[in-house]
Amino acid sequence: MIKRPVIIDCDPGVDDTLAICLAASHPELDIRAINPVAGNVGYESTSQNALRLADLIGIDCRVGRGAEEPLIAPCRTAGAVHGQGGLGGYQLPEAHRDFDVDYAWDILVQEARRAEGALEVIALGPMTNLAIALTRYPELKKLIRKITVMAGSADQGNTNVYAEFNVWVDPHACEIVFQSGIPIAMCGLDGNDSCSMNTEEINGIFQRPCRLSDVIGHVSHFIHQRNTEQWHLPSSTIHDLVTMACFIDPSIATYEPCYVTCETRSSISAGQTVVDLYHVSGKKPNVDVLRRADKERFLQMLREMMDWYTQH
Ligand code: RIB
Ligand code: CA
Repeated sequence: MIKRPVIIDCDPGVDDTLAICLAASHPELDIRAINPVAGNVGYESTSQNALRLADLIGIDCRVGRGAEEPLIAPCRTAGAVHGQGGLGGYQLPEAHRDFDVDYAWDILVQEARRAEGALEVIALGPMTNLAIALTRYPELKKLIRKITVMAGSADQGNTNVYAEFNVWVDPHACEIVFQSGIPIAMCGLDGNDSCSMNTEEINGIFQRPCRLSDVIGHVSHFIHQRNTEQWHLPSSTIHDLVTMACFIDPSIATYEPCYVTCETRSSISAGQTVVDLYHVSGKKPNVDVLRRADKERFLQMLREMMDWYTQH
């Protein structure tokens, strides 16, 4: 089996948690590191959640020391959205491992060099770690094969009319990544919505018994209950999970190459991903923007994940 070296950058976070579970059920992924970043909740929680989740699942990887706040923007989190501790109140067992001695950005360049140009990165939170790495180590622009991000939107935001949360937290980091010249796949709010799940799909898949039933059942129930009862939404788009599925199997995704830039200065629309869907800017596309993913194949990947955890 040809293994794909990958680093997961994340801010767990209820949906990050499900995405990491999905990744770990794919042995073709050689998860070199999980790098936490401040985002959904403060760094103390996202980092502990990342460490404990890697331990609980049994992922043999490094857990780096990530950025505790954005590059320039003030530190803002979304505790109300992700519940107490960032996992909807779920308490992961203490980890039996410690954080890596190195920072996330140093791990990125070490693993990129080791993978000799084959390293892929998937970012599920604010892109602060990636931006620091690209700034400190410009060689990474030639060493990272592809970056897949849960970020932005070609339509409206979720934090305000303009901005999706991950980009809103650190718009400067997003712009550094998008202008890096590295192949980027952007799974934004609108594209991910093609895989929104109803109650029957959520319960039918995530409530099945398996080794990780407790945490998967808890966080998926928390997400759907918040979406349907608190926000009165008809279904749940689990954004990091859809992004991870598109990363694992790009054939389920339909992308449109576009020129995308990130607004960093406006006091009104900072954090907006400005997607040139109709190519009116005349600028060369720098990002593959997710337009939709195949929902049936997405759901099948989730069923296979639950099967995996009944046997591993
Ligand atoms: O806007 C959704 C994104 O923000 C997801 O990655 C979620 O985990 C939060 O980080
Ligand atoms: Ca996230």
